[in-house]
This record gives sequence, structure tokens and C-alpha cells, in this order.
Amino acid sequence: MSHILCNLDGQIVDAAKATVSVLDRSFLFGDSIYEVVRTHRGRLFGVTRHLARLERSAARLGFEVPIDEAELRRRIVDLVAALGATGETYVRVVVSRGTASEPNIDPACTVSGPLVVLYARELSPPDPRWRTTGLSARVVDVLRNDRRALDPAVKSGNYLNNILGLMDAKRHAADIALFLGTQGQLTESETSNVWLVHGDRLRTPSLESGILAGITRDYVLEMLRRDGTACEECMLTESDLRTADEVFLTSTVKDVCGITSLDGSPIGCGEVGPVTRDVGERFAVELDRLVEAESSTSS
Ligand SMILES: Cc1ncc(COP(=O)(O)O)c(C=O)c1O
Repeated sequence: MSHILCNLDGQIVDAAKATVSVLDRSFLFGDSIYEVVRTHRGRLFGVTRHLARLERSAARLGFEVPIDEAELRRRIVDLVAALGATGETYVRVVVSRGTASEPNIDPACTVSGPLVVLYARELSPPDPRWRTTGLSARVVDVLRNDRRALDPAVKSGNYLNNILGLMDAKRHAADIALFLGTQGQLTESETSNVWLVHGDRLRTPSLESGILAGITRDYVLEMLRRDGTACEECMLTESDLRTADEVFLTSTVKDVCGITSLDGSPIGCGEVGPVTRDVGERFAVELDRLVEAESSTSS
């Protein structure tokens, strides 16, 4: 396992020595929020958008991130430097509502302010299958949470629904789960947004479908629109998924990742298709541009 370094409420400490109370609400109830940021060519990428989403998640759950954006950013930068990874760095930012006086779900029993924990480790190198043979997917029986329940737009620490879906996928020898929503609409994967290609038509589920507004999804949409590539955000069905020529995912960790089989049958010709390859290659160039632009505005 790679070395994990933490920042526990302001102090940098080795993960093995970083401890949180058994009465912490994230442990008891998953009552927390999180973000994952990473470096690209050693430089942090998309932090402003990730921290803005963290704020939105906190607001939706009715608590506050106890430190401001500048301090959080400083902690992330310092932790990345302290880890000193030779490759890229993965950083997870977790904010728990705080410690409870007793194991009682009522947030009124919270006796501390929110707790901020950062984890940094070396980012595992991309799985070559993401860009070559692609991954396999299963449309799982577990439904994506309805927006009126724990809204998927909130990046909360409660991923049990996604975990159940992933377990179902793995039981059926698939790499990832694809979730339908309560109206039968296509939503997303357990930790990635999904895109469909039919001929030259490129589509991804709209935010109204009940998904996380992925930061990578946003950057890819902006890149495609700027370059004049038509793409739509809309409600998509299971049948759209099953008739797609190509399917791919986007996420902070995977960037653009091909999906080449669904429930054991090939998608299209069963290979990472030309549109997925093209979007992946263009996004790799876009990442260079984005980190460059970000470091020139933050310096
Ligand atoms: C449910 C879900 N959808 C989509 C994504 C992709 O979001 P991002 O591009 O911000 O990493 C994630 C990332 O963890 C996720 O958990």
C-alpha cells in the first residue's frame, strides 16, 4: 500500500497515527462530505471548482466548512509538498459534521465543530485498459438515489448505494456499475459520469437526471463546445445505453475511460471507439492547458 499522509484539523500526520473519535458523525452515519483532487504534471488541477462543490455539498447538508477556501487550498498544497510523491498525487478532502455526544442521529447532539481531514497518496498510474481494451459495465439492480432523497448532486461521505451497486457489478464479473434512476433514466457510474455515442451524436445525462455534477464532465463539455463539437446534456434511457456505438466515463481519477462491454455483451465493435479515443486525446492536451492556466492565475 502506498504511503498515506494526512492533515488532521491543521496538523500533518502519518495516516497510521491520524485518529478520529468513534463518536465522529462520519463514522457513525456517513454524515460528511468529500472531494478528490489530483495533480497533473505535478501541479494541482481544478481545485477552485472542487472546493466550490465542497461548499455546495456542505450547504445542502446544513453545515459549514470551518476554514476558508484559501486555508483549505494552502493545506492541500502543503500536504502535496510534504508527501513528495515521485508521480502524481491524489488528495481526498473530507469534512465531517463533527463529533456527537452519543450515537444519536440528531445533528443537535453534535458537540464539536466540523472536522477537516485531508489524505494524500501517490496517484496510481492509469490502468492501461481505460484507453486500450476498455472496462466492462453492468446495469445494476440498485437504483441511483432519487434527487428527493440523498441528492446525488451532494458529494457526501455516504456512498453505500454506490458500494452496493459496485458489489453487484463485481459479482457479475463487471468492472463498474451503471445506475438507472427511479424514472428508468440513465444516471452515472459509482464514481464517474457516463457519456454515450450514437454515430456522431455525443450525449451525457443532464443534471436533472440525478447525477453528481462531475468537474471532469464540466471541463470536457466546455472543451467540446469551445472546439465546436456538438454534445448534448439530456435525459437518456436504458435503451439509449444499450444501442450506443460507444460508451465512456469521465472522472478526476480516470479522465476519459472507455467502456466496451455491457452485461457481458460487446458495446459497438467491443473496442474503445474513435470518438472516445478522440475525446481522451483532446482532454489530455486540455489538461496541460488547464494546469498551465491555473498556475499562472494563482501565482
Ligand atoms: C458518483 C460520482 N459521479 C461522478 C464523479 C466524477 O466527478 P469528478 O469528475 O468531479 O471526479 C464522481 C467522482 O468521484 C462520483 O463519485
